[in-house]
Amino acid sequence: MTPETETAVRDGQASQQTADQSPEGGQGKLTVTDSRTGATYELPITDGTVRAMDLRQIKTGPEDFGLMAYDPAYMNTASCRSAITYIDGDAGILQHRGYPIEQLCEHSSYLEVAYLVIHGALPTEAQLAQWTHDITIHTFVHENVKDFMQGFRYDANPMGMLVASVGALSTFYPDANRIHDYEVRHTQIIRLLAKMPTLAAFAFRHNMGQPYVYPDNDLGYAGNFLGMMYKMTELKYEPDPRLERALDVLFILHADHEQNASTSAVRAVGSTQVDPYSAVAAGVAALYGPLHGGANEAALRMLRRIETVENIPAFLEGVKQGNERLMGFGHRVYKNYDPRARIIRKHLDAVFEVRGKSPLLEVASELEKRALDDDYFTSRKLYPNVDFYSGLIYEALGLPVAMFPVMFAIGRTSGWIAQWLEMVEDPEQKIARPRQIYTGDRDVDYVPIEQRS
Ligand code: SDX
Repeated sequence: MTPETETAVRDGQASQQTADQSPEGGQGKLTVTDSRTGATYELPITDGTVRAMDLRQIKTGPEDFGLMAYDPAYMNTASCRSAITYIDGDAGILQHRGYPIEQLCEHSSYLEVAYLVIHGALPTEAQLAQWTHDITIHTFVHENVKDFMQGFRYDANPMGMLVASVGALSTFYPDANRIHDYEVRHTQIIRLLAKMPTLAAFAFRHNMGQPYVYPDNDLGYAGNFLGMMYKMTELKYEPDPRLERALDVLFILHADHEQNASTSAVRAVGSTQVDPYSAVAAGVAALYGPLHGGANEAALRMLRRIETVENIPAFLEGVKQGNERLMGFGHRVYKNYDPRARIIRKHLDAVFEVRGKSPLLEVASELEKRALDDDYFTSRKLYPNVDFYSGLIYEALGLPVAMFPVMFAIGRTSGWIAQWLEMVEDPEQKIARPRQIYTGDRDVDYVPIEQRS
């Protein structure tokens, strides 16, 4: 796909979605009266939003800076126009470039979905073959990256290793900051998708005290990852196709999720025109947090702590008392069942068939049932999210809990790249630099140290 056709496809998709999906009543005018001056203003409403900059005209006098919007944690702020992912939180709908997540998990592969979210259209057979080939031959990392990773403590958290090693890639490809050069940019995109599983598997092997396993280009994307994770003395690692498929679906389910915290971090860091490795490293760092990608790890530790069905009532009481959160439940956007959790729940059986059923599945199922029967949770619209069941699959695959957010990062790499690319090409975007409400002191005179109490 040439730059022109790629952009045309994306623009076509964007205009199509804007035309089809502008919220009911998306256009109009908002009339406001400032009680401080009695002045009335008309603010245009477009796509169900008012531009925050249109507030600046509302002043008490010529010396006034003008009104700003105050929105801690951006609870009600649209930071960009995007055509990549559509979520209807109330209806529990998730679509990538208009394709429902259920159909993509049923019929597609992670590399095809990565192409879709990044390029804006499903690839032709030839495009997919080229895309798969290009990614496959870029799975190796420079030997110095391996040496760098071997410098971590034996028990270093793999997410900390991933943040550092993704950022370190920027030092191996100094031309990556030529973000407006289509060919250079495309090469970095291929490298990021190709090398993320390699770095993740190296971090796992480091934690296990085992030699790092190099990629096997005869295997598919998920199969190669399993090989780099679990190959021991056998000459050729042969992944179980049931596990390979379940893992590929998990990567699809994490491919993108509009303006979540880690994607917002990638966009903000990328808005300074830094290279994509540094921007994606910021995304990995944001994902690390237990309220975000770290929730799958926290959810499994929570299930292990509950241990038996008999302990669930006391645990839920503790949550209602505010002692802790029900990890893997709740979402800023979904106020219904996260469609991804439903799909993961379905794939659990396929993994358990190969690896044996987790005793924690019964605890998780009963915990979900009790919570969804409890007004405390349903009144707050707290339903299972993507992280509630994913940990059970990762545990069944033999992964240590600390690796769970790393699995999330592998899948989300396609979304971080797609969102970064959309930001780079968006003429409305510039360096992200929010304002503030200043609450500190003013005009304080310096106090010599001998006079300070
Ligand atoms: C991901 O944004 C994305 O798209 C993220 C993600 C993606 O794909 O990128 O979907 C991936 O991060 C999923 C979320 C994983 N996190 C967790 O499972 C951690 C547990 N969940 C929460 O901490 C919480 O639900 C958040 C962080 C997910 C959302 O928090 P919000 O939207 O800021 O909601 P809130 O904290 O304001 O909570 C609203 C109310 C509060 O009660 P009150 O103060 O009104 O009495 O609900 C309560 C909260 O205390 N609440 C919970 C809860 N989540 C919210 N109470 C118990 N358990 C929970 N999990």
